[in-house]
Amino acid sequence: MDKLIIQGGGPLSGEIRISGAKNAALPILAAALLAENPVVIGNLPHLHDITTTMSLLGQMGVQLSVDEKMRVEVDTSTITSFKAPYELVKTMRASIIVLGPLLARFGSAEVSLPGGCAIGSRPVDIHLKGLEAMGAKIRVENGYIHASCERLKGTRLMLDMVTVTGTENLMMAATLAEGVTTIENAACEPEVSDLAHFLNKLGAKISGIGTDTLVVEGVDALTEKDLVYNIMPDRIEAGTYLVAAAVTGGKIKIKDVDPSTLDMVLSKLRDAGAEITTGEDWIELNMHGKRAKAVSFKTAPYPAFPTDMQAQFLVLNALAEGTSVVTETIFENRFMHVHELQRLGADIKLEGNTAICVGKKTLHGATVMATDLRASASLVIAGLVSKGETIIERIYHIDRGYECIEEKLALLGGKIRRVPS
Ligand code: UD1
Repeated sequence: MDKLIIQGGGPLSGEIRISGAKNAALPILAAALLAENPVVIGNLPHLHDITTTMSLLGQMGVQLSVDEKMRVEVDTSTITSFKAPYELVKTMRASIIVLGPLLARFGSAEVSLPGGCAIGSRPVDIHLKGLEAMGAKIRVENGYIHASCERLKGTRLMLDMVTVTGTENLMMAATLAEGVTTIENAACEPEVSDLAHFLNKLGAKISGIGTDTLVVEGVDALTEKDLVYNIMPDRIEAGTYLVAAAVTGGKIKIKDVDPSTLDMVLSKLRDAGAEITTGEDWIELNMHGKRAKAVSFKTAPYPAFPTDMQAQFLVLNALAEGTSVVTETIFENRFMHVHELQRLGADIKLEGNTAICVGKKTLHGATVMATDLRASASLVIAGLVSKGETIIERIYHIDRGYECIEEKLALLGGKIRRVPS
């Protein structure tokens, strides 16, 4: 397995561009299953999870072709199977998002139940309950969700918890249902809105976009022709580089980003002492060589602090001036990076779902192990500021979510290299 070797060094500085958002690209690729005509999707990041989604669609008989601008055309006219097999779902839990579109358009879907997950149990009960309320017949047998329906029927759905892919699955299913579906307590994450905009461009009728109540007026078919849609910028990738720059006391500019999707993250970075300037599609962070101040926060659904930025901010806190209290409310087991950060010398104590961190002046390089996607990113940031060499093992996690991370960090002056196994 590949490793990353990082030499702790000086402040990051320079300019990089942010890639398309993984968490918007995955549902939008799945939503292409709803389209009668071929659609072209641009600004897709080059990531393992995207390749997995394409393999998933490819195995169903969907035709995918890449044009000279690296945009992918998805043509569902050749589809022959409505199955998402365990072999692919086990590598990417988000595969569950093909369930809603398959069921709504073809009346049949067989999707492997996602298995266990490093960061928590991540059930899909809300997805299933919502589809059943719309008239689907669902049976779970031999590790698979078997779903079938005549045409789905619009209804009022009140989600038990805010779930991002759950909202996406139900919203996609509702686009072709008979009548109106109202999704209350819907996730407001910008990626849900990006998906809704894509669906509306295809011919869906979704309103309330960006709020916690989505209203979907079902249509007979999504028939738009020649649609070309560019995925929104990745706010978590953007936040990760901003934190990396802040921890190193650096100054960076990130381009092709949407600052409005990062309000809470930018606010916490300002609290940490960063000077931040934004334009329509760029953000500049300048730490003026200072040590960060510790920031406390609690993760919660958008627009509150994103769980996908918790690990990166914990590194900032590990090196900051002062003590911080960080509470994780979304996933029950999302502190595995803490044990790895302790190996670098961080002073972090865990009490249930809360991490109490006393900032130290330095961390020291060691060999650590990436445990999940965002935990890996936090270890990379820690490596950039730890004294000496940090070796990160099991980095396949990082390739699921960060496009060209070594190249981008190298552009900013980071000393990082990949060693193939
Ligand atoms: C998505 C993101 C992930 C992010 C997470 C929270 C994608 C591909 N992934 O994951 O990066 O960390 O949102 O912002 O977009 N839950 C249930 N029952 C359900 C569904 C969810 O109990 O049927 C619970 C989960 O266990 C979790 C919480 O709801 O505790 C939120 O999970 P959810 O928003 O569904 O996360 P994902 O959509 O899987």
